[in-house]
Amino acid sequence: MLRSVFLAASRSSALERLAERAPVSRSVVRRFVAGSSTADALKVTRQLIDDGLTVSLDHLGEDTVTGEQAVAVRDAYVTLLRLLRDGGLAPAAEVSVKLSALGQKIDERLAYEHARAICAAAADAGTTVTLDAEDHTTTDATLETLAKLRADFPSTGAVLQAYLRRTEADCRELATAGSRVRLCKGAYAEPESVAFQSALDVDKAYVRCLNILMSGDGYPMVATHDPRLIAIAEDRARWFDRAADEYEFQMLFGCRPEEQARLAAGGQVVRVYVPYGDQWYGYLMRRLAERPANVAFFARNLVSR
Ligand code: FDA
Repeated sequence: MLRSVFLAASRSSALERLAERAPVSRSVVRRFVAGSSTADALKVTRQLIDDGLTVSLDHLGEDTVTGEQAVAVRDAYVTLLRLLRDGGLAPAAEVSVKLSALGQKIDERLAYEHARAICAAAADAGTTVTLDAEDHTTTDATLETLAKLRADFPSTGAVLQAYLRRTEADCRELATAGSRVRLCKGAYAEPESVAFQSALDVDKAYVRCLNILMSGDGYPMVATHDPRLIAIAEDRARWFDRAADEYEFQMLFGCRPEEQARLAAGGQVVRVYVPYGDQWYGYLMRRLAERPANVAFFARNLVSR
């Protein structure tokens, strides 16, 4: 119930305008978002790398509606990647990109061209790009764009969402040599026709997908904070004889930092997904939808500016 309220809120531009003016304490946003500027993102990235973690940076923004906005997002990534290169932060830091932010809904070809420019900048910096997964209406287009990008930039990563009924088949397609696949549960409100609805069914699907990726030839990126799934992933890595550099764990900035540190101290590769930028609203609403404890934190900080 709470989940659907926050997911509906994440798509409301009227609520977004209200939230931007509301007395939301900076600490609420700061808990999940590195800051609004590229400098903030670089500072957090350096700190995480110094702590033995790796990073994927997300320039916040989705549902770009004009060509100019798409160009601005592309340019923000290209600048970020140049700064990561010059600051010696690549390859420990890569970037995550939403094709909707690059104008996928206005013109798929344009979004592809912008993604290509970002992949070229990443290659120049010695790092990679991962294409985020958005709602199910975009999955085919995103995977087609991924295939085209991988022809020239083979390390470009995909994100697959375990809650989608199609994802086991997509895992089989993508569990090939050189293929980087981030497996997450999925963060959008999706209809029963395309997605498992109960937490148990999603968890079981996650394990089936994990088995396919861990037993395949690609590079699995296990994106979850769920202790049971983390333990199962560690078990499968042992079972399929994967060395510590043949898969990685990924978690969101601000979520279970002590677990991130524990896994890294145990020799695991841990990548923290670090969002930054002004357009934090949709991202923050999806985080609140995931976890009642996040809502309690949000509520406490509404009154403690
Ligand atoms: P879930 O939220 O179901 O929590 C399971 C259990 O984990 C909880 O009961 C609790 O025990 C523990 N837990 C979870 N969060 C915790 C916290 N903050 N503190 C303490 N314990 C906690 N989605 C998408 O649709 N497209 C995408 O591209 C991405 N990209 C992405 C990248 C990365 C690196 C991550 C980690 C996640 C995404 N996601 C995503 C989001 C993903 O789909 C999902 O919504 C969230 O990760 C929440 O699901 P969990 O697997 O963490 O478990």
